[in-house]
Amino acid sequence: GIDPNFEENREREGREHGVDVWGPTDPPETLGIRGTHVAVDFDICLADGACLEDCPVDVFEWVDSPGHPESEIKANPTNEVQCIDCMLCVDVCPVDAIDVDPG
Ligand code: SF4
Ligand code: F3S
Repeated sequence: GIDPNFEENREREGREHGVDVWGPTDPPETLGIRGTHVAVDFDICLADGACLEDCPVDVFEWVDSPGHPESEIKANPTNEVQCIDCMLCVDVCPVDAIDVDPG
């Protein structure tokens, strides 16, 4: 699953789709972790979609990831500032790709 200590263990490389990108990245095969308060490891996400269906405040949006070995769309935490820390997405993701840090 996603490394919950990614902020210490990875470097912030910039922003894409409105959220931070935590490397390493080497597209299209390696896309890194996306978002900070709500973080999705794009290299683990296989586009299950439960997070999009269950988030009560619509934090996630699909973004395209053509050529990635796990899936060609990813759940981007575009609206992470709206998160109410309910932890539903963390519970429903079948591959533990999401970390929410209720600071
Ligand atoms: Fe949405 Fe709850 Fe996940 Fe926050 S913790 S992104 S509100 S499902
Ligand atoms: Fe991806 Fe998990 Fe959501 S696999 S689409 S982050 S439920």
